[in-house]
Amino acid sequence: MGKARVVELFAGVGGFRIGLERSGWRVVWSNQWEPATKAQHASDCYVAHFGADGHVCEDIHALMDEAEAGLRDLPDHELLVGGFPCQDYSVARTLNQALGLVGMKGVLWWEIHRLLTMKRPPYLFLENVDRLLKSPAHQRGRDFAVMLTTLANLGYEVEWRVVNAADYGFPQKRRRVLIVGRLAGEAPRDPEEVLYQGTLARALPIERGPVLTAAWDNFAVTGSPADVTESFGAKRGATPFRSAGYMSHRRVWTMDAIPAHEGSRQTLSDILEPTKLVPESYFIRHAHLKTWEYLKGGKREQRFHKATGTPYFYAEGSIPFPDRIDWPARTILTGEGGQSPSRFKHLIETDDGRYRRLTPRELERLNGFPDDWTATGMPDGRRAFMMGNALVVGLIERAGAELIQEVPARPDHVAIPIEVAETIAS
Ligand SMILES: C[S@@+](CC[C@H](N)C(=O)[O-])C[C@H]1O[C@@H](n2cnc3c(N)ncnc32)[C@H](O)[C@@H]1O
Repeated sequence: MGKARVVELFAGVGGFRIGLERSGWRVVWSNQWEPATKAQHASDCYVAHFGADGHVCEDIHALMDEAEAGLRDLPDHELLVGGFPCQDYSVARTLNQALGLVGMKGVLWWEIHRLLTMKRPPYLFLENVDRLLKSPAHQRGRDFAVMLTTLANLGYEVEWRVVNAADYGFPQKRRRVLIVGRLAGEAPRDPEEVLYQGTLARALPIERGPVLTAAWDNFAVTGSPADVTESFGAKRGATPFRSAGYMSHRRVWTMDAIPAHEGSRQTLSDILEPTKLVPESYFIRHAHLKTWEYLKGGKREQRFHKATGTPYFYAEGSIPFPDRIDWPARTILTGEGGQSPSRFKHLIETDDGRYRRLTPRELERLNGFPDDWTATGMPDGRRAFMMGNALVVGLIERAGAELIQEVPARPDHVAIPIEVAETIAS
């Protein structure tokens, strides 16, 4: 296990770390810094549980500048992980193309890219919203294509899967894309084997059938990252990236995966606290109930633009009021906390006929965190925010358990020097 060292970027309150430590990995360095607030609640929570050793609470951009200038040492590691914010990954064309790519400033993907370039860890494991495979709206799939191209240029191959945690028995419907990369060998592996029995498919099995095999898409991500930025997806209406995929040496194989799960299935009711333990502030005052009901209801009504006064019709469907507790919960969003009525916050009916919001502890349970993980000195609204940002720990644990088995088995994983990788990829 000495070889299973992890660097964790965009660490938040440590969802990746909890899942990876449960599957035998050891985090040797981590970074978390929240640009929007002075208080650093996520980093404080992380340090409260894991200690300050090897943890840095500073802007990743400044850190990478220091590391590139030789002013900061980053430890060697086998696995780089992070749940990074989904942004526009386009690449600016530099005056001198030979200088390579210049990622747009402030786009955090490029910080991951810089670290991969510097340290060349043999494995990476990333998590993101599934919108990453479709964005931006005017060039569907472009951002993911940029990401794949730059990874191919660094000599990595990639498996990805869009996973809804509830499909694997977890008590929350949360769709995210999991991306596992590794330094590639000299040629792609058998794509059928990777898609059906690769790291992610072993961790989160899928149905096998002739229909799926026939539905494979097979294409290449060609050109420089700047070319991809300019042209990828320009002529297509839909993204070519489906819910399972493999990219190696710039070739992409992708298909729609159907989850296969035979174990138990949890619902919202499985994680609820007894009503008598829930503080009064979580119960909805009778006078506010109508507003909650209205916000969650379907509507088609005339509204007026604030600035111009122009009338328009606003329409939206209904969402369950109250939330069904015999189903998995809906996705926790960052705005889940606070008492104000909302369409998206969960609202449940209790056994004594009242209505209430979910407590921070229940939100932690929906993501598989230990109880009171975020009770480290931040207000309840921030605790909810942290869970909206976090991930389903059990998914990370399952993928981590598969991935760790590959580490000792691949002593040759730094096989291709970066210059050679670039030649193969171009
Ligand atoms: C999607 S969240 C990841 C949450 C994490 N996986 C967890 O389990 O809590 C992204 C994190 O990146 C952090 N972040 C945003 N900008 C950053 C920057 N410039 N440097 C370092 N961290 C940053 C945010 O504060 C946030 O906690």
